[in-house]
Amino acid sequence: MTQILLVGTATLDIVFQFSGYPSEDAEVRANGLRMCRGGNASNTAVVLSQLGHRCSFVGVLADVPETAVILDDFARFGINASVCPRVPGRPPTSSIQLTPHSRTIVHYRDLPELTAEQFATVDLSSFGWVHFEGRNVPELLKMLALVKAIRPDLPISIEIEKPREGIDEVFRYASLLIASKGFAASRGFDAPESFLQWLRSASDGAEVVVAWGEFGAFGIDGKGMLSSSCAYPPKEIIDTLGAGDTFNAGVLSAMINNMGFSSAIEQGCRLAGKKCGFFGFHLAQ
Ligand code: ADP
Ligand code: FRU
Repeated sequence: MTQILLVGTATLDIVFQFSGYPSEDAEVRANGLRMCRGGNASNTAVVLSQLGHRCSFVGVLADVPETAVILDDFARFGINASVCPRVPGRPPTSSIQLTPHSRTIVHYRDLPELTAEQFATVDLSSFGWVHFEGRNVPELLKMLALVKAIRPDLPISIEIEKPREGIDEVFRYASLLIASKGFAASRGFDAPESFLQWLRSASDGAEVVVAWGEFGAFGIDGKGMLSSSCAYPPKEIIDTLGAGDTFNAGVLSAMINNMGFSSAIEQGCRLAGKKCGFFGFHLAQ
């Protein structure tokens, strides 16, 4: 079975649930509160493991008791996090105001990001796929070069969520790029097709995908064929936090299982839509 390595951040999410977003300077009572593990690659790992994949996560973890929230959830879903460096500090933390229509994230981090030197301690020999969050570009470039040097055969996917300085330089290392609508907008694109053409031409023949919220997702495969899928909204939208991370898991799982590019985009949308109908990432509900 293909083992997947996911590289990124694991966060402590404090999620306040509201029926409507509170106004500035209001004093309101939330309908619910969750303190849970979060972070893009970490969320994607938890979903992938429930789809039957063996996953390892690598990212810096804070050496404090609060990190148990993250580690316990990884353990619950069988994610191997033993390769994560532990350093003094506190976990990257998000305060999230969640309504059925929005998820407002206030994020704080002072924990150092994963370095290429730390990444180099991971034994890559058993993995069949590696997925990176597109962040900390100077170190990410070194990690990507390392993967190419040690395991040139290993497929690399990279999530391009935010417009970070120098991020375009990582495109050429990827076999699959999964971008966000926000990233497309940051480059002046307001339509998925033209954005995908640009992204593909900026890469080295990568397959490219972009999620487009309630409009579903779009992609261009290795042969230049455009695919798309509508969104699959649940009966009631409950929690869109991490819909994109769930979409990524659906796409990766289908690609790894050789289901074909267009089915991968559809599976991403079906899974992300399902996820919007319940809180968190536990699929069996
Ligand atoms: P993010 O969580 O990164 O903001 P997006 O909003 O782009 O991600 O959504 C990712 C995927 O989740 C979309 O491609 C879509 O399939 C699904 N999705 C997001 N919002 C909805 C929604 N309101 N209804 C149905 N599906 C949704
Ligand atoms: C959702 C998420 C949260 C985390 C935040 C980090 O996509 O990964 O779990 O707090 O984004 O940006």
